[in-house]
Amino acid sequence: MPEPIQSLTTVDDARAFVAAERAAGRRIALVPTMGALHEGHLELVRTAREHADTVVASVFVNPMQFGANEDLDRYPRTPETDTAQLIVLGAEALFMPEVEEMYPDGGRSETLVTAGRLGGVLEGSSRPGHFDGVLTVVTKLLSIITPDVAVFGEKDAQQLFLVRRMVRDLNLPVRIIGVPTVREPDGLALSSRNRLLRPAERTDALALSRALEAAGAVAAEGVQAMLAAARAVLEREPGVELDYLAVVDPATFLFAPDDHRGPAQVLVAARVGSVRLIDNAVFAIA
Ligand code: PAF
Repeated sequence: MPEPIQSLTTVDDARAFVAAERAAGRRIALVPTMGALHEGHLELVRTAREHADTVVASVFVNPMQFGANEDLDRYPRTPETDTAQLIVLGAEALFMPEVEEMYPDGGRSETLVTAGRLGGVLEGSSRPGHFDGVLTVVTKLLSIITPDVAVFGEKDAQQLFLVRRMVRDLNLPVRIIGVPTVREPDGLALSSRNRLLRPAERTDALALSRALEAAGAVAAEGVQAMLAAARAVLEREPGVELDYLAVVDPATFLFAPDDHRGPAQVLVAARVGSVRLIDNAVFAIA
């Protein structure tokens, strides 16, 4: 029988749980999520287990990272199955606060952790304020749980870059671990939003991972060839409305110049029906 999970809904309870774990000499890992857990999240939990004695997952659909016209209300919420999956994986605790617990002043925080200029490009350009909302809630979660390590998925590449930079800039005492994207056998990157896709849209959505593959196939020819190959795949798919396609240097997240050599991260965001999806992959330009 799996061990029962400690279900935490208040900041005080979470702090008390963590204090007891620390007093027992245990290392703590945090896996921050917005729930609707899928195999990609479960991989984060498994990775967290490799680095800590106590795994705390958080499930919180953070209103501060959603814009006014975004999908906050229809973002999938599956608390019972999330809890059951975390129990099976043996996570020790689940922190699942209400919005009022995290943001007692009317559902938002006046104090923000801002992502700076890089928070305003790519995802940040399409979703103004998104990364300030992400960094603010991640800072709160790190401050509440005080983990030794925190685990994030590489699918949200810009988020992972900005979280790492924030931790470095603010000297936060936590190690950030990135976990490779988990994909369906046909290449679709796992995402909580995939469950909002209709069957035909699910097929259309494969254009994103195929575009990345196409870019990778011509990496030897450089940045412009990669962009052209990926764009050609996306443009062939009428059900896919491209938001952005870019190649960045993963070390800086700056747009890669045409003569870029070394690791090159291809990033794509597109709307498939009413669902906005992102994906990315890193290739080497020799
Ligand atoms: O990646 C996510 O699910 C969210 O952006 C995060 C990191 C849990 C913050 O709300």
